[in-house]
Amino acid sequence: MNEEQRLHDSQIKADTPNKTVGKDYSQYFQSVYVPPSLKEAKKRGKEEVAYVDNFSIDPQFKDLGNGRKFYIRTYGCQMNEHDTEVMAGIFQQLGYAATATVDDADVILLNTCAIRENAENKVFGELGHLKHLKTEKPDLLIGVCGCMSQEEAVVNKILKTYHQVDMIFGTHNIHRLPQILHEAYLSKEMVVEVWSKEGDVIENLPKVRKGSIKGWVNIMYGCDKFCTYCIVPYTRGKERSRRPEDIIQEVRHLAAQGYKEITLLGQNVNAYGKDLPDIDYGLGDLMDELRKIDIPRIRFTTSHPRDFDDKLIEVLAKGGNLLDHIHLPVQSGSSEILKIMARKYTRERYVELVRKIREAMPNATLTTDIIVGFPNETEEQFEETLSLYREIGFEMAYTYIYSPREGTPAARMTDNVPMEVKKERLQRLNALVAEYAAKSMKAYEGQIVHVLVEGESKRNPDVLSGYTEKNKLVNFTGPKSAIGQIVPVKVTAAKTWSLDGELAETPADLKAGV
Ligand code: SAH
Ligand code: SF4
Ligand code: F3S
Repeated sequence: MNEEQRLHDSQIKADTPNKTVGKDYSQYFQSVYVPPSLKEAKKRGKEEVAYVDNFSIDPQFKDLGNGRKFYIRTYGCQMNEHDTEVMAGIFQQLGYAATATVDDADVILLNTCAIRENAENKVFGELGHLKHLKTEKPDLLIGVCGCMSQEEAVVNKILKTYHQVDMIFGTHNIHRLPQILHEAYLSKEMVVEVWSKEGDVIENLPKVRKGSIKGWVNIMYGCDKFCTYCIVPYTRGKERSRRPEDIIQEVRHLAAQGYKEITLLGQNVNAYGKDLPDIDYGLGDLMDELRKIDIPRIRFTTSHPRDFDDKLIEVLAKGGNLLDHIHLPVQSGSSEILKIMARKYTRERYVELVRKIREAMPNATLTTDIIVGFPNETEEQFEETLSLYREIGFEMAYTYIYSPREGTPAARMTDNVPMEVKKERLQRLNALVAEYAAKSMKAYEGQIVHVLVEGESKRNPDVLSGYTEKNKLVNFTGPKSAIGQIVPVKVTAAKTWSLDGELAETPADLKAGV
């Protein structure tokens, strides 16, 4: 938060108790309105991050949602999914009810992702679709939040062309949703509140979690890696770790509520703790404490190979509730390309890291992310990606065609690779990914796997589905009472992306429900 914003905050807080509804507050927003700036967002200062744990809804806003419904559409990564849970929590505290359809909503939020151009195009398309609702229901509020809001080009485009939008706010100020909504109800202008500089770490935010079986827990915010293709360090700000005690308390709380699986979230979780000024504490230390909590499964995402240290490997090797599925984005198999991407490791160092992980955890499953068609990627460099894929034997990968993001160093590079070539490389890579996925699935045939059952299969309500420890999707026949439990399933058939099976034995506690 910058000085201006702090001032803005205190101004509103100090002024609002005496104000009555109907007073135009837009002057506050406009007088301090600073357009978002990727250049500002790039700066990394030394100032300390404040930990704020007294989030509460200002009493003047507490009836804002009475008789009103909200709808949030989420794009992008788990971080965004989790931010949506926080915003849903704030809506609930404001008295809004949730609705599952846009037609029924009084407030629609698009929680956006800026990672690739096609992610952004989807949002602009959706804004186009929503326009007619605004004509039918003039009181409807439409908001854009999330990573796209942090980009000045996006904000300018919305201000110019998408007048159906009532509010734009960014990733650093979702806790200010009550003030922003309030302002949007009063103002005839589009309300824009985007902070280019990261905010503080706010604890005790309300959350309405999407499920009661698996839960997300943020361990850190932001990213300082600045891979040359990536927009995230600009949209999410500098790395800020939550205090270990706050994380541990949240995981304990979820365990007590009956959650079975926790995924720790951060853009670069291996840098966890580096910014905590007073303690020498990293992800390995945190995992070592979390493994003692009585919760069956703990995962984390996303790992950066550069910061993956021996301490973490040593702790993960203790097993228990720490799962040995590691998602370790490599991006490319060519050391030359990795260098231009500023990933800060070589192919050899990545292979060495995998060797160490496998030495400590012989059954570890590795999955990855890969970008093809980085500027000037040669056929040989692309083939190095294919050969690394085979060498490691990844079980699955998310694959992408490089998408230039305005403001990043890679977007300024000239690029001699035609789009048809990029598409063709993606197809070749995807064929390899499918081949290895199918092979890894085949090995499970006839085996017993442990499935955390999430619910009925989307396609067939007679079939249950869930995930194994290695994150393989399993569809199987079994009693509904298995939902929310971890059950043994015998794999009867392997597909490329999922397994079919049947309940291996009926655990005693399920029998009653059969
Ligand atoms: N923090 C995570 C990744 C977040 S983005 C990490 O470093 O692993 C998820 C994935 O999107 C990245 O791993 C990368 O493969 C892909 N990605 C990021 N920027 C991209 C871009 N400009 N074009 C194409 N893919 C991109
Ligand atoms: Fe982006 Fe790299 Fe940070 Fe991941 S580590 S979010 S790819 S800059
Ligand atoms: Fe997208 Fe932002 Fe996540 S750009 S991938 S929603 S951090």
